[in-house]
Amino acid sequence: MDSTKKNKFLSSNLFFAFILVSSNLLTLFISTSFNTSCSLNQQIDIASPVVAKVAPEYEAVQVSDNTQSDQNLPSEFLTFTSPQKLPLGFSKNFDSNEIMPPVGSPCTLFRDLLNPYMSYNVNGSCPDDELLAQKLLLKGCEPLPRRRCRAAAQQEYVEPYPIPESFWNTPSDSSVVWSGYSCKNYDCLINRVRNQRGFDDCKDCFDLNGKEKSRWTAKTGTRLDFSIDEVLAVKKPGTIRIGLDIGGGVATFAIRMRERNITIVTTSMNLNGPFNNFIASRGVIPLYVSISQRLPFFDNTLDIVHSMHVMSNWIPTTLLHFLLFDIYRVLRPGGLFWLDHFFCAGDQLEQVYAPLIESVGFNKVKWIVGRKLDRGPELNEMYLSALLEKPLKNSW
Ligand SMILES: *[C@@H]1O[C@H](CO)[C@@H](O)[C@H](O)[C@H]1NC(C)=O
Ligand SMILES: *[C@@H]1O[C@H](CO)[C@@H](O)[C@H](O)[C@H]1NC(C)=O
Repeated sequence: MDSTKKNKFLSSNLFFAFILVSSNLLTLFISTSFNTSCSLNQQIDIASPVVAKVAPEYEAVQVSDNTQSDQNLPSEFLTFTSPQKLPLGFSKNFDSNEIMPPVGSPCTLFRDLLNPYMSYNVNGSCPDDELLAQKLLLKGCEPLPRRRCRAAAQQEYVEPYPIPESFWNTPSDSSVVWSGYSCKNYDCLINRVRNQRGFDDCKDCFDLNGKEKSRWTAKTGTRLDFSIDEVLAVKKPGTIRIGLDIGGGVATFAIRMRERNITIVTTSMNLNGPFNNFIASRGVIPLYVSISQRLPFFDNTLDIVHSMHVMSNWIPTTLLHFLLFDIYRVLRPGGLFWLDHFFCAGDQLEQVYAPLIESVGFNKVKWIVGRKLDRGPELNEMYLSALLEKPLKNSW
């Protein structure tokens, strides 16, 4: 390697380390400066040695790479991520005189996606590149960098139906930019179960007169299907008020809860369909975060977390373990985690997943195991539907 190349290589690595360290530090500053309760002492204690260890590196980066320019990174990316001086000077909340806007630490690993994503006209229209953004996000560049351009939108947007019509009516095709999907209208999405081959996530979900209509409303015969009313009956009436549905498809769960005056936020990706637009059109809140990202809620706040058909053996086991603890974190003591149709191969449940779930510390209110037969009995697949409760006392 000649020396200029080597320097470049070194500086880009240092820059990457810098981004990583700075975004971690910011998270730490925010999480420590806004928490006053002593219950967080343990977290702080664990985090301090890490800070001590990275601080000298961070300084070294500042010294050796104080221009912070890297020819290979898009300039808008550098502009967004570089430290921004606070106009009013040092802030106690941030414990700093600057803010370092965060992006997912893997962002710079995917230059082939990052470069086109961050190449646009500042103050102008963004490229129509939803697919590119989602690819980058799912690879771990989450959060994505902010951009200074106007996101693609329909030329003639049609406003949503009023509530409650919006709950169960298919919105106008003109509320969606369709370029990222194989279907170009809602009719196609509704009919794709019949017309389209191959697997698509939540293939029959857009048909609000199909299976969606009856989900969670009544006992459907299998013990794995809990009804919403049966679950709510576990707690005092009115005490389940706010919550989260992870990977909630078209948010029928949130709609059913909304009909009971319960507010549910639904996380969803737009995997070959405008799930986020559809959820919003129905009149409930979509949250565009993947399964990998720390849940953007504070500790001990939500009454219920639900997840159906998402948390399964496709998720790397360590990631799943972190996710389960994150769910536990955001639930308030006495809050419910409804793990709806978790699936895996037969022996994995006993050997891997049951111990994993049990390690978190929930109380088991319901724990129903059944066979999953839709792909044939020879696969020996299992379902688990569980209703778990964060202990009301001593949940820490
Ligand atoms: C974008 O707008 C800002 C605010 O008016 C201006 O300072 C900046 O020069 C503009 N940038 C471009 C590339 O037009
Ligand atoms: C929801 O709230 C509205 C307004 O407070 C009330 O009229 C309605 O009866 C409630 N519905 C249910 C199912 O509790």
